[in-house]
Amino acid sequence: MNALYSLLFVFLLVLIPLFGVDAAHMRTFFGVCIPTTAFIIFIIGFVYKVVTWGRSAVPFRIPTTGGQFKSFDPELFKQNKLDCPQTGAQTFFRMVLEIFAFRSLFRNTQVSLHEGKGHPVVAYKSSKWLWLFAITFHYSFFIIALRHLRLFLEPIPFLPVGALDFVDGILQIGAPVMYLSDVGLVVGVLLLLGRRLVLPRINYISYVSDYFPLLLILSIALSGIYMRYYAKVDVIAIKELTMGLVTFHYVVPESITVSFFIHVFLVSTLMVYFPFSKLMHMPGVFLSPTRNLPNDSRAKHHVNPWNDPNIKAHAYADYEKEFGVPMAEAGLPLDNPENGVPKDEAEA
Ligand code: HEM
Repeated sequence: MNALYSLLFVFLLVLIPLFGVDAAHMRTFFGVCIPTTAFIIFIIGFVYKVVTWGRSAVPFRIPTTGGQFKSFDPELFKQNKLDCPQTGAQTFFRMVLEIFAFRSLFRNTQVSLHEGKGHPVVAYKSSKWLWLFAITFHYSFFIIALRHLRLFLEPIPFLPVGALDFVDGILQIGAPVMYLSDVGLVVGVLLLLGRRLVLPRINYISYVSDYFPLLLILSIALSGIYMRYYAKVDVIAIKELTMGLVTFHYVVPESITVSFFIHVFLVSTLMVYFPFSKLMHMPGVFLSPTRNLPNDSRAKHHVNPWNDPNIKAHAYADYEKEFGVPMAEAGLPLDNPENGVPKDEAEA
C-alpha cells in the first residue's frame, strides 16, 4: 500500500506541470518561479538542519567500534585502525572510506536460522547486495548531477564536466550516445525499490517516506531520459533558460516543450522535500559522532564542557586515596599501594 500511495503521489506530481504548461500556459511559473522558490527552500532548509545538528552537544566520544582497541601489547593484539580509530588521521581515513566507498554498508551481514541437529542454528553471512545497489545508485546520481553543470556554466569547464561526459558515454551506443550513469541510476533505483517490495522483512518496515524518494528520483531519471533520447529537446533553448536562472535574467524560450517542465517540476519537488526527509543522511554522515570521533576515551580524559564548576569531579585516583585502606584490608588491588597504608602508620 505504501508503495502504491507513493506511486500515485508521483503520478499526480507529473500531472501538475502537464496541465499547468500545456493547458494553462503557465510557462514562467513552472520554468522560473517554481524552481527558484524550490532552490531557496532547499538551501535554507539544508543549512538550517546542518547548523542545528552542528550546534548540538557532543561532550563525549561515542564512536561505533568494530575492532581491536590499541592494547598494551601491540604485537599480540594489533589495533584495528579503521574500526577502532584512535587518532584524528585514523578517523579521517575511516570517514573517507565511509563517504566514498560506503564501507560500513560493505561490512553488512545477514543473519539467518538453519536447521541444526535437533535444534535451530544461527548463521551470519556477508551480504553485499545492498552495498552494490546503493553504490551504483549514488555514484550514478552524483555523475549525472555533475554533468548537469553544463546547463548552468558558461564556458563549460572540461574538468570535471567535459571529461565526465566523455567517459560516461564511452560505449558510444546509440545517438545521442547512451550514458552509463543513466543506466546505473535507473537500475540502481529499481533494485533498491525491488528490495523493499520483495523482501518480506524490509517490506514490513517500509513507509511512504521510503518509497516516495525512490519513485520521485526514478521519475526524474525517466523524464530526463525521455527528453534526451526520445523527445530530443532543444537543449540550446533550455540552456538559455537555465543560464537565465543563475544570472537572474529570466527567459522562457517558446521552443521548450512540456517534458522539460515536468523534469524541472519533479526536481523542484525533490529539492523542497530533501531537507525534511531521510535524504538528509547525505550531510548527516559528515556530522555523525559515531563515525567522526576518534575512540580515545580511555587514553584521554574528556571533561564535559558544561559540568557545574561547583561540583568537584571524583576521579578513581581520589576514590582510591579515600578508600585505599579498607580496600587493602579487603584484599582489593590498588593502583598506588601507598593508599593502602593507614595515615598514622604512613606518617610514622
Ligand atoms: C535531482 C537532480 C536531477 C537529476 C537526478 C536529473 C536526471 C536526469 C537524467 C538521468 C537525464 C538523462 C540524460 C543525462 O543523464 O544527462 C537528464 C536530462 C536532462 N536534465 Fe536533468 N536531472 C536533474 C536536474 C535537472 C535540472 C535542475 C535541470 C534544469 C533546470 C535539468 C535539465 C535536464 C535537461 C535539459 C536534460 C536533457 C539533456 C539532454 O538532452 O542532453 N535536470 N536529467
